[in-house]
Amino acid sequence: MMPNIRDYIRSIADFPHEGIIFRDVTTLFADARGFRMAIDQLLHPYAGIPIDKVVGLEARGFILGGALAHQLSTGFVPIRKKGKLPGAVISEAYQLEYGEAVMEVHDDALKPGERVLIVDDLLATGGTAEAGIKLCRRLGAEVIGCAFVIDLPELGGRAKLEQMQMPVHVLTSFE
Ligand code: PRP
Ligand code: ADE
Repeated sequence: MMPNIRDYIRSIADFPHEGIIFRDVTTLFADARGFRMAIDQLLHPYAGIPIDKVVGLEARGFILGGALAHQLSTGFVPIRKKGKLPGAVISEAYQLEYGEAVMEVHDDALKPGERVLIVDDLLATGGTAEAGIKLCRRLGAEVIGCAFVIDLPELGGRAKLEQMQMPVHVLTSFE
């Protein structure tokens, strides 16, 4: 039988904290068929839709985003954690489980009116993706969708993004 994307995702108990089941995509990325299946499935809804740039969220969104941008023949733009990008940036703070973090993008990375697809490995509370959407919108870009390999629906990220009128595409979810 054809393998499912879930078969390639490893679950590790009690990482990084006791009680968390960490959904590890390194096993998906390491498998030739698994990685290709993930890229093909992430792109499926966007066939025939114009996209100017793929935006990847640090860190695993870079791996997926590079492959998606290559397949779509678009450029790739990284959104990084505070202090990592060398040029002039704009910043957005977002809530973590404990405290706050900041995401940044180069202030010239997207042009007004550019149509972008945001990608990451996993959607949990949606805080990271929301910060990414806000950064793209502040540069005048139009975010046409957000794509993730994994959704954790209990954490409410998908509902949060859909409240921002954002189409969300996920390949699989874990309760
Ligand atoms: C994970 C994941 C997403 C984010 C999702 O990254 O790769 O980027 O959490 O969580 P949220 O929906 O609650 O914002 P993490 O913050 O662990 O950083 P890393 O990719 O640099 O390891
Ligand atoms: N980010 C937030 N929750 C996670 C989980 N359970 N597995 C992997 N990354 C996560």
